[in-house]
Amino acid sequence: MSSLPILQLRAVGKSYGGNRVLKGIDLDVMRGEIVTLIGPSGSGKTTALRCMNFLEAYDEGEVWIKGQLLGYRSSGRTSRDRDSEASLAEVRRPVAMVFQQFNLWPHMTVLANVTAPLLLSKKMSKALAQSKALAALERVGLEHKAAAYPSQLSGGQQQRVGIARALAVEPEVMLLDEPTSALDPERVEEVLSVIRSLAQDGMTMVMVTHEMSFAAKISDKVVFMEAGQIVESGSPAQLFGNSRTQRLQQFLKPWLDRSLPFATTTACMTSASAGVEVGNVSH
Ligand SMILES: Nc1ncnc2c1ncn2[C@@H]1O[C@H](COP(=O)(O)OP(=O)(O)OP(=O)(O)O)[C@@H](O)[C@H]1O
Ligand SMILES: [Mg+2]
Repeated sequence: MSSLPILQLRAVGKSYGGNRVLKGIDLDVMRGEIVTLIGPSGSGKTTALRCMNFLEAYDEGEVWIKGQLLGYRSSGRTSRDRDSEASLAEVRRPVAMVFQQFNLWPHMTVLANVTAPLLLSKKMSKALAQSKALAALERVGLEHKAAAYPSQLSGGQQQRVGIARALAVEPEVMLLDEPTSALDPERVEEVLSVIRSLAQDGMTMVMVTHEMSFAAKISDKVVFMEAGQIVESGSPAQLFGNSRTQRLQQFLKPWLDRSLPFATTTACMTSASAGVEVGNVSH
């Protein structure tokens, strides 16, 4: 693992009008790391994730991708010039995003959906783009659906196509915003298992999730956000088993109560600190 973070956020802030929804986020993501962002609704998880590839323009601080500043020409704190589209595209090239609502084009086949970003951003031949797209579909177990339209697929399959589309551009970092939250409970596992296999292959990922058991098992680092700030971050054992703040304990309590319904939360917290497998709800 290189010692330079592949993705680095320094005092990143974002306001919508007068509403400052990110208030100085610092985060280092190392190559091969799985970082999960958790926190209550409205705490800024999606905004933080979208700032990481400038889908949302942050307006304070800096985002660095492989040592290159994202979105701006300079790292100063005063008003800054936006980078050119070409340079922005180049800096964000290693990063791909998987969306909560899949964001597939309904009028295009699965193969065309996965091929399109390659043709647009990488300007490769159609034949090469299609072969890369088919390989990505195979990676998520859906090569047999290449000719289907999104409406002919289940939600879980659509999200696997969304993951294939992100994989096809051969990213070095994947950003996933609640990749399973739009799915029926029975469809969640097929998507989590694809994500798990990407993690096993060493893909660097930053994922917003409400799947606490999954986060506990898969993450190298968990980040708890509240009101636009990072309240706590650390290993899953630290956050889920030995949380420092009352706010995180309060946030986790319903999950811990559900996971071990016959134990008290305090007992859960203690046993969780011995190993994060404690939140052993089935996935
Ligand atoms: N485009 C926007 N315009 C104005 N306000 C926005 C916009 N996007 C997000 N916000 C506000 O920013 C805050 C953070 O929103 P964000 O979507 O990042 O939260 P979240 O943690 O992802 O929540 P959830 O768990 O519900 O997805 C919220 O108060 C939200 O209303
Ligand atoms: Mg969100």
